[in-house]
Amino acid sequence: MEKLVIKGGTRLKGEVTISGAKNAAVAILPATLLVNGICHINNLPNISDVKIICNILKELGAKITWKKENEITIDTTEINSTKAPLEMTSKFRASYYLIGSMLGRCGNIEVGLPGGCNLGARPIDQHIKGFEALGAKVTVGQGKIHAKAKKLVGTSIYMDVVSVGATINIMLASVLAEGTTTIDNAAKEPHIVDVANFLNTMGADIRGAGTDVIKINGVKQLKSEGTYSVVPDQIEAGTFMLAAIASKGDILVKNCIPEHLDCITAKILEIGGNVEDYGDSIRVSANKRPSKASVKTLPYPGFPTDMQPQMGVVLSIANGTSIINESIWESRFQYTAELNKMGAQITAQGKTAVFEGVDKLYGAPVYASDLRAGAALIIAGIIADGVTELYNIEHIDRGYENIEEKFRNLGANIQRISE
Ligand code: EPU
Repeated sequence: MEKLVIKGGTRLKGEVTISGAKNAAVAILPATLLVNGICHINNLPNISDVKIICNILKELGAKITWKKENEITIDTTEINSTKAPLEMTSKFRASYYLIGSMLGRCGNIEVGLPGGCNLGARPIDQHIKGFEALGAKVTVGQGKIHAKAKKLVGTSIYMDVVSVGATINIMLASVLAEGTTTIDNAAKEPHIVDVANFLNTMGADIRGAGTDVIKINGVKQLKSEGTYSVVPDQIEAGTFMLAAIASKGDILVKNCIPEHLDCITAKILEIGGNVEDYGDSIRVSANKRPSKASVKTLPYPGFPTDMQPQMGVVLSIANGTSIINESIWESRFQYTAELNKMGAQITAQGKTAVFEGVDKLYGAPVYASDLRAGAALIIAGIIADGVTELYNIEHIDRGYENIEEKFRNLGANIQRISE
C-alpha cells in the first residue's frame, strides 16, 4: 500500500506543465477500434486508467507500441474478440466507450458494468437509449452489458440529461452507421470536441461538437495512419490554478487552453485571486486570503463538478461563509469529512455544503474517496500546518500524471511512501 506524506505550510511557486486530458484519452483509445488500422497518438497522459484501457484493447487483439512515455502507435487491424475481460472493464468508468466503438466496429460487444469513482448512482440509461435508437439490442445482467446490432442506422436522439459519456458513446456508435445521426441536448465539454476532432482526423464526418446539437454523417470507413495529439487536461490545469490560490502562491500553468478554464478563472477573480492569460499558459497568484463565494456545479461551460473538491479546499479557508451546490453527482462531498479532520468547518447535506471559513488547516491522516477528492486533499495537505498522511492514493494515480513530482517542483514537501 502506498501513501503520500505531505509536510505543509508551503506557498507554491514556479511552473507546471499540464498533461493530456484523461477524459479525452480514455475515449480516444477505444475510438481507435473504429479505425481498423494504425493510429499514432501523442500527449497521452501516463495514468493508470490509460494503462488499463490499453491492456483491454490488447486483449481484444490490438497491437500497441509505446514510442515514448506519452506516445503510442496502436494497430486495431486484427480484432479477434468481442468479449472485453470483465474484471478489467468493471474497474473503471470509461470502459463503456468500448460499447459504442465495438458496436460500430463489429456490431457485437460484451463488457463488465462500468466501475470508476464512487460518486453515487451513475446510470447509463442514456447510452443504452442511444444505442437502441441506432438499432442495437442491449441487455444488462449478471454484472455485464451485451450490445449487438446487425446494422446501425442514423437517427435523431434527444438526450434527457446532459451526459458527457452518453454524448461521446453515441458519437462513437454513429461514425460508421448508415445515414445521419443527430444528438440534441449534447454535452459540450472540451473532451467531447477532442474526441470528435480525433475521429474527423481519421476521416469521420462529425459537425457541431462543442454545441448542444451534434450531427454525425456516417462514413463507410475511417483512414489508417493518422496522427493525433490529445488536448491538455482542463481539470488538471484547474487543480493547479486552485492550488496557487489556496497556498497564496504564484504558478505558471503551461500547456493549457485558457478558454477551457474561463469558468474557473471567473471564480478565482471573484474570490480575490489574480489570473494572467498568455494564450497557451496561464499565471495564477494570490497574496491574500480568498473571500467567500457561492458555487454551483454545472455541465460545461459551467463550473465543473470535477473541480468541486479542489474549490472546497479553497473555500474551507476563505474569509466568511461559502456554499457549494453539487448538481451533477449525488455523493461528491465525501472529502468534506476528511477536511473537517484537518480543522475545516463544513456541513454537507445532500447536494449542498456550507463552508465556515477557518484561518488554518492542520495536518492529519486522511483518505481519498475518489480521484478529485484525492487531488483536493493534496492541496489541503500542502497548505496545512504540520504533516498530512494521505491514503487510498490509487484513486489519484488513475487521473493525474506524476502528481507529487509536479507539486514538488512547485516547492511542496511531498513524498510517496510504500508500506
Ligand atoms: N446520467 C444519467 N444517465 C446516463 C448518463 C448520465 O442519468 O445515461 C446522469 C449522471 O447520473 C449525472 C449526469 O447525468 O448526474 C452527468 O453524467 P455524465 O454522463 O456526464 O458523467 P460520466 O460520463 O459518467 C464524465 C467524467 C466524470 C465527470 C462527468 C461530468 C469520464 C470518464 N468521466 O462522467 O469525470 O465528473 O463526466 O462532467 O469522462 C473525473 O474525472 O473525476 C470524473 C468523475
